[in-house]
Amino acid sequence: MFIQILLVLLISGYQIRAKESFVLPSDLAQFLDRIGRVHRLHAITIVNSVGSVSPSYLDELHRGLMRNISNHFYLLPQMTATDEDFSPMRFSRLQDEETVYLVFAKDSMDAVIQLQAQRARGRRYSKTLFLLRKQESYQDLERFFKLLWTLQFRSALVVVASEKFYQMDPYPTIRIIRMRRLSAYDPHHLFPPPNRRNFGGYTIRLPVQQDVPNTFWYQNRRTKAWQLEGLGGILINQLMENLNVTLDMFRFEVNGSLLMNMTALTDLIVQGKVELSPHLYDTLHPNHLVDYSYPAQVAERCFMIPLDNEISRSLYVFLPFSFLLWLCLLFTLLIVEFVFVRRLMPDTHLWAILGVPGAGAARCKNRKPCRSITTFLILGGIFILVQAYSTKLTSFLAVTLTRRPANSLEELFRLPYRILVLPSDVEAIVASLGHAEEFSTKFSFTNPQTFEDKRIGMDPEYIYPISKVRWRFFDLQQRFLRKKRFFFSGICHGSFPYQYQLRVDSHLKDALHRFLLHVQQAGLQEVWLETCFRRAHRMGYLNDFSTLAELEEKLRLRPLALNLLVPAFSLFLCGLVGSGIAFLVEIRQSFGCRQKPPPTNRNPGD
Ligand SMILES: *[C@@H]1O[C@H](CO)[C@@H](O)[C@H](O)[C@H]1NC(C)=O
Ligand SMILES: *[C@@H]1O[C@H](CO)[C@@H](O)[C@H](O)[C@H]1NC(C)=O
Ligand SMILES: *[C@@H]1O[C@H](CO)[C@@H](O)[C@H](O)[C@H]1NC(C)=O
Ligand SMILES: *[C@@H]1O[C@H](CO)[C@@H](O)[C@H](O)[C@H]1NC(C)=O
Repeated sequence: MFIQILLVLLISGYQIRAKESFVLPSDLAQFLDRIGRVHRLHAITIVNSVGSVSPSYLDELHRGLMRNISNHFYLLPQMTATDEDFSPMRFSRLQDEETVYLVFAKDSMDAVIQLQAQRARGRRYSKTLFLLRKQESYQDLERFFKLLWTLQFRSALVVVASEKFYQMDPYPTIRIIRMRRLSAYDPHHLFPPPNRRNFGGYTIRLPVQQDVPNTFWYQNRRTKAWQLEGLGGILINQLMENLNVTLDMFRFEVNGSLLMNMTALTDLIVQGKVELSPHLYDTLHPNHLVDYSYPAQVAERCFMIPLDNEISRSLYVFLPFSFLLWLCLLFTLLIVEFVFVRRLMPDTHLWAILGVPGAGAARCKNRKPCRSITTFLILGGIFILVQAYSTKLTSFLAVTLTRRPANSLEELFRLPYRILVLPSDVEAIVASLGHAEEFSTKFSFTNPQTFEDKRIGMDPEYIYPISKVRWRFFDLQQRFLRKKRFFFSGICHGSFPYQYQLRVDSHLKDALHRFLLHVQQAGLQEVWLETCFRRAHRMGYLNDFSTLAELEEKLRLRPLALNLLVPAFSLFLCGLVGSGIAFLVEIRQSFGCRQKPPPTNRNPGD
């Protein structure tokens, strides 16, 4: 009796063990059936390498999955592919995320793992079951999980030798979890959840290169700690704080230079040394072994052109004589001459009406009201003309006048400056704007260091290509300048998206996308731009020309203003002398008019 009971216990124990392993294909089929039902999956993909699983096992598994109408995957169409057709087709093109992947591998080094990573790109949320045929040592297993994490399989369940089950928890460091009894787990917890909100202090290595205004170093005055700054820097800092991620930042020098080198940065990501780069860069030449975030900025790339179109102040006296004013003057004189002088008062002389001394003295006795009105009208007109001139002149003196800046390609080619570019810029410019020959004579090539130095220092020797966001930042340098150094032209060669670079299927990608959307909706970039400018200025990455502006104010503008007064004052003196003489002549004439009968005043032309 006692022995019998023991036997039953043993048998039942054996039964449980049998169900807890996938030695029998039907057990695996049952397990998959349960997973498919619980998670409402639409598809199942089975991948195997040669020798990783016996064909009979696979046949039995297929049969188990499709056996009867109550099976979850019963109605799915089937597709068989072999590696021979060497198309790099991805599963992700055929299947959505509601898919379970079954990967049979010989051992933890099997190449099928890498193949799966390539083919299921973009499907790292999907549940993936790795079945390793061979027993693995714990060290091998650790290495294997590290590889899985590098390839970003976030929801992976590993089965070793059909009966040992392992999961991982990657945060804060990769931890392997042995699952003793599969049936004891809630089916929702069999696969690790692919996304987490709190990374529990997970550490990522972050390479930092200098790219003002997007990334640069800043030393906090209070804590004396060096921190990442810039539009990209602040965003990454804030995001990582939200996710509870520790940043392990390092200066990434390439060939002795700290300037941004995107080739080197993407190489780091492809080699698996870093997960994310905080640098914003356009994706004109995307690297397909790297993922890109949503565009954090979309900005057009145009030219910044030296502003050398100031009109000399000594020419200001002539400026109010616009074409219209001249025309008015001519028109008035013609009307006066032909309508009034010739028709209405044929025997009067124009100069007398204008009140030129000596001319009208002859007629000082017989004044008609009509003539007085005409005189009044003409004098009024002249008065208005003079007022218009002086108002314009004074308003010109209050500002700095410039000519219209170059805003078309022809005007750009006519400018005496060359365009400073990096060799990599040429293709984009010429492809968009054409005129390859004109541009080829205009371009002046240089290395990134010189280019950055000259552009950020606003060296007025060259024209530079620049994106709108960067221009808005650099433009802050000259905001207090009375005479701006550069202007942003309307000659643009396309809008480019600026994106962050991430490891393929990175676990940071979705969090970054959500965060980018929040930042854009809140308009935080605008606020950060000002903060970044102050910090970049304090760290000496750029100049603020405001101090220079004060200097200019003190040294140049005041003496200039005094100089300006000299011609004005001389003109005033001339006027004074002239009117004095006129006054004297007038007095003499009026005396003469009272004493004698008026002499007939004749004009030489009359
Ligand atoms: C169909 O599946 C149900 C439950 O999964 C099982 O009880 C039944 O025996 C199966 N029928 C056949 C014909 O295999
Ligand atoms: C970040 O993670 C650490 C380690 O798990 C934890 O102690 C800390 O409370 C977390 N911080 C926040 C803000 O959640
Ligand atoms: C490194 O810099 C030196 C000198 O600036 C240059 O000659 C060399 O080509 C550079 N090497 C690489 C790999 O860029
Ligand atoms: C950028 O990095 C690549 C790869 O490391 C290197 O070949 C190239 O010379 C670097 N460019 C510059 C300008 O240093």
